[in-house]
Amino acid sequence: MAKRAEPGRFITFEGLDGCGKSTQLEKLAGFLNQQGIEVITTREPGGTEIGERIRAVLLDSRTAGLDPHAEMALMFASRAQQIAQVILPALEAGKWVLCDRYTDSTEAYQGGGRQLGSEAVLRAHEVLCRGLWPDLTILMDSDVSSSVARARRRNRAAAHEESDENRFEKESHAFFTRVRNAYLEIARREPQRVAMVDARPSLDVVHPEIVRVVRERLSLR
Ligand code: TYD
Repeated sequence: MAKRAEPGRFITFEGLDGCGKSTQLEKLAGFLNQQGIEVITTREPGGTEIGERIRAVLLDSRTAGLDPHAEMALMFASRAQQIAQVILPALEAGKWVLCDRYTDSTEAYQGGGRQLGSEAVLRAHEVLCRGLWPDLTILMDSDVSSSVARARRRNRAAAHEESDENRFEKESHAFFTRVRNAYLEIARREPQRVAMVDARPSLDVVHPEIVRVVRERLSLR
């Protein structure tokens, strides 16, 4: 009889725009590959063909007048598609899934930043994400001013592309302060799932710290 594969692990990366999480996610994927673990990497919003179309609507700075509740619904629409099409099949096949942002982003940005509140986000999550939570979330904490400045520089450099992804980066310092505070509150509430890592040191300092956290939390050799 065929042996059922051991289910994979689900790890998400969270933090403010420009905190370096995408780079760290790729570096962790490289490390896990070296350990012989099959890994897939993905991102939100996006990660599927349908999700990438939703992403274009959400992030394009030409999208004007999007209601915060509609914004939250689109974030969850992209996520529900990704769970069905990418995350659950991969986990069932024993792969590890590394996802750049997940529901904590919705709680921080729509719940905190847009002030819809945590409860609305968590209730939507239970229905639309079938209660799927990561085994581990790496929250890369950084200060608001330097992260946002970095994200804006990066997006200016990509400004020649057809659609820009600047809609969130145009938000105020006060908005990102609310986002950061919401993240800190999630970390306080769920210390068993969320590990906070200081994102301010250089890339080469942060990576080993993330590897240490993953080893410790997921009992990796
Ligand atoms: P991302 O591409 O990860 O941007 P960055 O690399 O700058 O961090 O995310 C796109 C933007 O979408 C980011 O500003 C955060 C926002 N976002 C939400 O507001 N809610 C969500 O649920 C998600 C997943 C992202």
